[in-house]
Amino acid sequence: MGEYHIRGGRRLRGELRVRGGKNAVLPMFAAMILNGAECVLHNCPRIRDTFISAEILRCLGCKVTIEGNTVVVNSSGARDWHIPEELSGEMRSSVIFMGGLLGRFGQADISYPGGCELGTRPIDMHIKALAAMGTFIETGERLLCQTKGLTGARIPLQFPSVGATENIMLAAVLAKGQTKICNAAREPEIVDLQGFLNGMGADIKGAGTDTIVINGVEKLHSVEYCAMPDRIVAGTYLAAAAITGGELWLTGVTPSDLIPVTSAFTEMGCRIAEVENTITLKAPGRLHRIPHLATHPHPGFPTDMQAPLTATLSLAEGTSVVKENLFSSRNGHIIGLQRMGADILEMQDNRSFVIRGVENLQGATVEATDLRCGAALILAGLAAEGNTVVKESIYVERGYEQIELALQKVGAEISFK
Ligand code: EPU
Repeated sequence: MGEYHIRGGRRLRGELRVRGGKNAVLPMFAAMILNGAECVLHNCPRIRDTFISAEILRCLGCKVTIEGNTVVVNSSGARDWHIPEELSGEMRSSVIFMGGLLGRFGQADISYPGGCELGTRPIDMHIKALAAMGTFIETGERLLCQTKGLTGARIPLQFPSVGATENIMLAAVLAKGQTKICNAAREPEIVDLQGFLNGMGADIKGAGTDTIVINGVEKLHSVEYCAMPDRIVAGTYLAAAAITGGELWLTGVTPSDLIPVTSAFTEMGCRIAEVENTITLKAPGRLHRIPHLATHPHPGFPTDMQAPLTATLSLAEGTSVVKENLFSSRNGHIIGLQRMGADILEMQDNRSFVIRGVENLQGATVEATDLRCGAALILAGLAAEGNTVVKESIYVERGYEQIELALQKVGAEISFK
């Protein structure tokens, strides 16, 4: 298992290019089974979850090649709808293959999805929606799904779940008739999935609003598409500039998708400049506190930036309060930050953190327990005095393309061992 070794205290300065979004491309991989033809996806991040998704497609009988940041998948030869446990257990988003496999084969057999440990992560909304579209689902040790033909339905979601919205979109593309998702997730990744699916001939409207309408089509065709930039990688790099008192300019980003994040950095006293597809952040002498910050579905502050921002606030002047609303225990980073000298009080609900900013953090050996926890600990290590080791790099590799190389490029002393 790898680990990151960091000598803290260097101000980061320079330019970084942001690649395609993990949470944008993962549902696209699941969609690639639908068309029985070629899919070319550009700007795909070279991260662990991408490689697992590619492996799942190979297991189903697709031809997959990855060259640089371009993935080419041909699903014409796919014949299988079983996803082995060692693959679906690796990645939460494997659940979205349900919609793709049902659309293509009328059957899906996957084990319960794995992924980050963020508390209980039920998939009841996915199951209820697919059942409403005419799927019989057996939920034992595995999820066995079967349909005699998917039919469009009106599906009101009790919560705007990203994964459930995506699963329904995939299932509805080739279903008979119209599907209407009410209270749909409005994340930019949903808009990107609509673009990808419409590129292969689907008829979807409304992504980015709370009502998505999908008119089923008879057949899909090949598609070539460029994935949207990763909002959370961009936010993590901005945090790296903020926490080290540095200045970074990011290219290949969509500033409007990052407004909830850049607004938080502005509140912390950072100077943000946006021109077309670039964002520059210049940190102040000392970061300001944020009195109250809570995570919400888009366009609120994203839960995936909660841990990186908590790390950054641990060095701000004054007391900040952060509330996690999406997941029941997205708190793995707190222990590591405390070990590094952060003054964070975790309330009993595991979701509210009172952060009293300290002047310095100290290097320590800490452990990533999920992807964004790992990113937060790396950020703390960049700013801390002395040496930090972040263990269990495997979590970070799930979502950041060689983060150590990116950070080295802008002046960090970090290596991967
Ligand atoms: N939920 C249910 N029932 C369901 C589905 C969701 O109760 O059937 C609950 C979840 O337990 C959670 C909340 O609803 O408390 C939000 O879950 P959502 O379905 O929106 O999240 P997801 O699809 O599982 C995606 C991202 C996450 C990101 C969330 C929220 C992917 C592959 N994952 O997860 O990304 O945090 O949306 O924005 O797109 C990450 O990148 O670090 C990450 C965890």
